[in-house]
Amino acid sequence: MKRIPEPELMDETSQARAYAEADFSEPNQLFLELFAEHFPGFDGNMVVDLGCGPADIAIDFALCYSDARVIGVDGARAMLEFGYDRIAEAGLAGQVELKCLYLEPETVKQIIPSGSADAVISNSLLHHLATPDTLWQAINYLARPGAKILVMDLFRPPSTSAAAELVTEYAGSEAPILRSDFYNSLLAAYSPDEVRNQLDEAGLQCLSVSQSSDRHLLVSGEMPS
Ligand SMILES: C[S@@+](CC[C@H](N)C(=O)[O-])C[C@H]1O[C@@H](n2cnc3c(N)ncnc32)[C@H](O)[C@@H]1O
Repeated sequence: MKRIPEPELMDETSQARAYAEADFSEPNQLFLELFAEHFPGFDGNMVVDLGCGPADIAIDFALCYSDARVIGVDGARAMLEFGYDRIAEAGLAGQVELKCLYLEPETVKQIIPSGSADAVISNSLLHHLATPDTLWQAINYLARPGAKILVMDLFRPPSTSAAAELVTEYAGSEAPILRSDFYNSLLAAYSPDEVRNQLDEAGLQCLSVSQSSDRHLLVSGEMPS
């Protein structure tokens, strides 16, 4: 099935609210478990979460790794508003910072100096990007030698009917706006082979692609030292 792009930013208030109020605790927990599994004993300081949305993963990461300072980046202010509130509620204002930035080669330079991230993480950003190289070049710019990289996203099912089945199975009881977001995201997602090609073109052969569930792919690895 050919990829059908969806809008990049989730900047519409109703869409951001529906996403922020949905229960993504299971995939968020999976993301943290996978990070711990791939990088046992991580004790880095500077962590960047690209496409952080309402900051749930940034917050959970900070709670798991008390030495980490997490910078979440997202271009949608409507999403970040939820994140600011959640960070304040969790008492993590000193540990988690959010930046409202549309990711592109020039703006990435406003996050942190080149080569200073100990880890770069990202969940469910890649399928939004019309130019997926944006994500891989951001990682190339931000990550220090030896930095840990974990990117999780959906992968595109073989057909629209397979996508519809996944929506019924995993979001059957969710609000219509969330069901249609999930369906559109599945259609916009990249396949594991496409992601492997993207990594080759970005010179990121240090990262490997695997399937972490019936709908998720995982890109993981360490930057060369
Ligand atoms: C599906 S949400 C994922 C949010 C969060 N990572 C999570 O796992 O809950 C994708 C986020 O990426 C953001 N995004 C998409 N394209 C972007 C871009 N080019 N620059 C910055 N943020 C972007 C959207 O605004 C949205 O908040």
